Amino acid sequence: MTRILFPVSEAYPLMKTGGLGDVAGALPPALKALGADVRILMPAYRDSLKRAGKTRKRISFHVPEHDATVTLRETKLPGTEVRVWLLDFPPAFDRSGNPYHDEHGRPWRDNAYRFALLSRVAATVALGGAGMKWRADLVHCHDWQTALVPALLAQEPARPATVFTIHNLAYQGVFPRFTFDSLRLPESLWSPEALEYHGDMSFIKGGIAFADLVTTVSPRYATEIQTPAFGHGLDGLLRHRADRLIGILNGIDETSWDPKTDPLIRHHYDSHSFARKKGNKASLQKEMGLPQEPEIPLIGMISRLAEQKGIDLVLDALPQLRDQSWQLVILGSGEPDYEASLRRLARTSGDRVAVRIGYDESLAHQIEAGADLFLMPSRFEPCGLNQMYSLRFGTVPVVHRVGGLADTVVDTEDATITAGTATGFVFDGATPTALVSAVSRAILYYEQKKVWRKIALTGMKQSFSWRTSAEQYMHHYRTLSKGQR
Ligand code: ADP
Ligand code: GLC
Repeated sequence: MTRILFPVSEAYPLMKTGGLGDVAGALPPALKALGADVRILMPAYRDSLKRAGKTRKRISFHVPEHDATVTLRETKLPGTEVRVWLLDFPPAFDRSGNPYHDEHGRPWRDNAYRFALLSRVAATVALGGAGMKWRADLVHCHDWQTALVPALLAQEPARPATVFTIHNLAYQGVFPRFTFDSLRLPESLWSPEALEYHGDMSFIKGGIAFADLVTTVSPRYATEIQTPAFGHGLDGLLRHRADRLIGILNGIDETSWDPKTDPLIRHHYDSHSFARKKGNKASLQKEMGLPQEPEIPLIGMISRLAEQKGIDLVLDALPQLRDQSWQLVILGSGEPDYEASLRRLARTSGDRVAVRIGYDESLAHQIEAGADLFLMPSRFEPCGLNQMYSLRFGTVPVVHRVGGLADTVVDTEDATITAGTATGFVFDGATPTALVSAVSRAILYYEQKKVWRKIALTGMKQSFSWRTSAEQYMHHYRTLSKGQR
């Protein structure tokens, strides 16, 4: 049985701020179902300890470089048999709210220290240290918060294989040189081939430069990040590692996101009872204070409010769509400027735009079930989960042709309608004009009820099961842990 350590900074339902949490909550159970012995290692945030319920103290040990005595508490990922080790060190993790920043959106000042500690503990546990009586064959790390693990393990002669997944290259964990010193990392890691990045220290380089295999969450993003336009300054290094860089598309949790059984929505439906979706539209309109008009296309959007997600494109596009018939519901939280702009938009748009600022799992499901169209005009999108949830809910996605959006949505045109493959509307170029034209096209099709139904039902039939992705990871894990690095 392959023993896999899965260090990560969030895993649903113990902690989630975005898609990484979804992935870390769903991939390990899918790997376990394929026979892997997988253990998640994540911080014992205050909210995670609450959500975990009963935990068992597994071990305490001292991490000299951090001058910290840490405890690993064992629990299971709720609803699964996957074991989780919660890294309990209250000075670093006993805080409520967001794991990465304070209530004003400012990164916690000790983030480098906190996530270097997580990475060090992961490396120690993976090597069978600290008296754990468990040793990993392979460590699968995610994003900058755990990217130091491959760099630390590369210093060890007998080490497990390492996989590093880039969920989002925009977040790199870059800190000044003195942070590097304060973390007491081996001096050999201070070089442009290692963690140094234009005189600063980059956490993510540890994963990209040292992992035996680097993956991203869609095939197209794996290609895009090797270009200057999408490489966030690391495209050179990524091209250098091209023979060790692949894209594996994320799956979705098809149990939680199933319109037939979803406990968070009012009217259950599937492709045979698609007409019942309308009931959810009426409920959503009511909930959000929009006129309950069954025939007006209702556009939904659920998003972290960050530059990546193209909120500004929506703000710029709406005036140009003024003369068409639509309603818009937006659920999001994130950068204060976007939050303020969206609140202003809701105030000034009469009764056609409703905005809810905040994080609301239940409303997210109701939007997926109630909207007719779903908007994802992301500037870049490593994978994106909401377009896949939308397809499954028969909520036709309108997306920018990038990353996972391009890999999962088939544009509607004569040929794809005839072939029965059209599932959404895909536009080129992150501009308000391109977005306006895609939404206008979608609205025109919405009026052709039969074609619309066909597009929606084709989407509902797509399969994005985690099993398919997990099988691909397992294939690579096996090759790597057999020593074929
Ligand atoms: P990213 O990870 O870049 O934010 P993804 O599309 O991969 O984008 O995943 C986002 C996840 O977070 C989805 O499960 C989505 O429903 C959820 N989400 C984002 N914002 C909110 C919000 N304000 N309320 C509830 N869920 C949200
Ligand atoms: C990141 C990306 C998103 C992806 C998610 C899970 O947050 O922005 O596209 O779906 O990670 O891999």
